[in-house]
Order: sequence, then C-alpha cells, then structure tokens
Amino acid sequence: MPVPTITWENDALRLIDQTLLPEKYIFITCRDVGTVAEAIVSLRVRGAPAIGVAAAYGVVIAAQEAIAQNADFDRYVAESIQKLAQTRPTAVNLFWALDRQKKVLAKATDHSPTEKRDRLLKKAHEIFEDDKRICRQIGLNGAELLSSQATVLTHCNAGGLATADYGTALAVVYAAVEAGKQVAVYADETRPLLQGSRLTAWELNQSGVDVTVICDSMAAAVLREKNIDSIVVGADCIAKNGDVANKIGTYGLAILAKAHQVPFYVAAPLSTIDMKRDTGAQIPIEERETEEITHGMGRQTAPSGIHVYNPAFDVTPNHLVTAIITEKGVAKDNYTEIFERWFGE
Ligand code: MRU
Repeated sequence: MPVPTITWENDALRLIDQTLLPEKYIFITCRDVGTVAEAIVSLRVRGAPAIGVAAAYGVVIAAQEAIAQNADFDRYVAESIQKLAQTRPTAVNLFWALDRQKKVLAKATDHSPTEKRDRLLKKAHEIFEDDKRICRQIGLNGAELLSSQATVLTHCNAGGLATADYGTALAVVYAAVEAGKQVAVYADETRPLLQGSRLTAWELNQSGVDVTVICDSMAAAVLREKNIDSIVVGADCIAKNGDVANKIGTYGLAILAKAHQVPFYVAAPLSTIDMKRDTGAQIPIEERETEEITHGMGRQTAPSGIHVYNPAFDVTPNHLVTAIITEKGVAKDNYTEIFERWFGE
C-alpha cells in the first residue's frame, strides 16, 4: 500500500507525524533544517530508509536557507549535514544519504548556490524514487518465500511509513497479497514506542491486510500456538558478515524463531548494508531517553529516579538469520561473499 510518508511540496518537506498515529493522521511541513533534525530525533519520521530520504531533502532545505539568508553557502550546508548526522546513530541509511549529498556538492564546487541547490534536489528526488522502486523489488523477491496461505510475524514497523512508500518487511506482505496469496500478520506491539501496534497495525489495516496485535512478551506463545510460517523484519544496519541491527526485541525474536524452527527473514535495501562494519559489534546502538520507559503510556510507569536502560536497537547474529531479502536477491549463509559480489557489480 503506498503511504505518502514523505513528499516534497512548495520547496518544503512534508511528513506524516508518526508520533501521533493512529489517533491523528496529520502532516508536518519542514522549512528549515532544525525542524527536519527534530522530526528525525523525535521519530516523527522514522525507519531507516525514510530517515535517509528525509535527510537527503534536509540538505536541500539547508541549501535553500543558506541562499535565503545570504550565508556562506558551503559552510552553512556542511554544518547542517553535521547536524542531521547527529540525529540518530544506528540507521545507516541516514549516513548513506548524507554521503550521497556530500558527493553532489563535491562535484559542483564551481557552481552557484542555486545550481548546487538544484543538484541536491535532483539527488534527493532520485533517492526517493529509487527507494520506491527498490522496496517493490524487495517485495517481489521476498513474496516468493511465502506460501499461498501464510501467517507472518513482524516486529516494529518496516512498512510504507518507514520508507518512501511501500516498506521492506511489509513489502514482502504487500507483494504476496498483490500476487493473490492469503497473508495474515501478527504485529508485535514493539515497546517502548509501540511502532508495531501504532504504525504496522495502522498501515496493514488501512490496506485491508488481516493483522493481529500482540504484546512483545506473547511472541513465544504465538509461535507455539498460531502456526506462524515465518518471521519477517526490517533492519537499520547490516554488517558485512550479515549480523543485523534492528529494533530492540528483534534478537529475542530470532532466538524464538530458532527454538520453534520458524524461518527468520530480514528484508532491507542494499543501502542498509554497511560494508565498513565487519560485524554487528561495530554497529553503534542508539540509547534513548529514559522517559520513553518511565512515562511511556501517558502516565508514570516506573518509580521516580529509577535506573533505566533504553537501547533502541539490538544486534541479531548472522547464524540466527535464515536469509536477507534485498533488491538484488536473497542472500543465505555466506553473507560476506554474497555482499562483496553485489557491491562489486
Ligand atoms: O526507531 P525506529 O522506529 O526508527 O526503528 C525502525 C526499525 O527498527 C525498522 O525495523 C527499520 O528501520 C527498518 S524500516 C524499513
């Protein structure tokens, strides 16, 4: 289902404010780079590919601001890129998109600020359109792994809301449904910020896919009782050896999948694979505010002043991953070798 997660309108970035879903379906408009950075930090826009697309447009906005303020263009844009890079550390698509914009600027040193802005916008549109196309290809590649009647368990939100419009893990579901398969989804609610129950359930429901929300702690019982055919999740960063960083709780789910002999699939674009990180141990894991846990449900849910540990992601070791579904194809086992081949092509 295409969701207009991100659009570029009247020289501004328009985003669904995902913190308000499912109660309110409201768009925010970002006209300055500070607002883009805030939207990423606060998870108004979230999900690795969507963060990358938003950041690419964020650089365009920085260029526009520099022109409007008659500021030192190169310096202003470089500082804005730095600001965007400091928003979230784990989703590698953020850095991938910013690097692409840096390359655009490096090739345009002799051009005027307006020409540079136009080139940045062209690249941002390209990243956006590529993401749409890539997600559809991930869907087609992954849908083949689902039988004609499949029950899938997923974690967090790796759907249209987390990408330009179609998703990665949920692309597999959408493409299977479009191919005439009957797919039912169990969505982990995904504590502490409930991306599963607030976002995955919302977008699947919007598109008429059968979805059932469960608390994260119910996954083991559901795997035993509900004939789950496969688990499909997204990724924020995949190391060269196939270790996968994704939303906290993914690792536990992978262990449960092994215990119940259920295939555990990761669906992600090549831009989520970081060939500079040999293993998952080298992936930086974001730690977020304690209030997400102590005041997560609109009320205080833990004693005042209590110690809290709040990592937003965990790393699933490659041996627990059945396959990684990308736009290039489906990688199994020899991840390093396969990735090196794909990146060398
Ligand atoms: O903290 P979030 O909501 O940005 O975390 C998102 C996830 O963990 C997704 O599974 C991942 O980014 C893949 S999105 C296609």
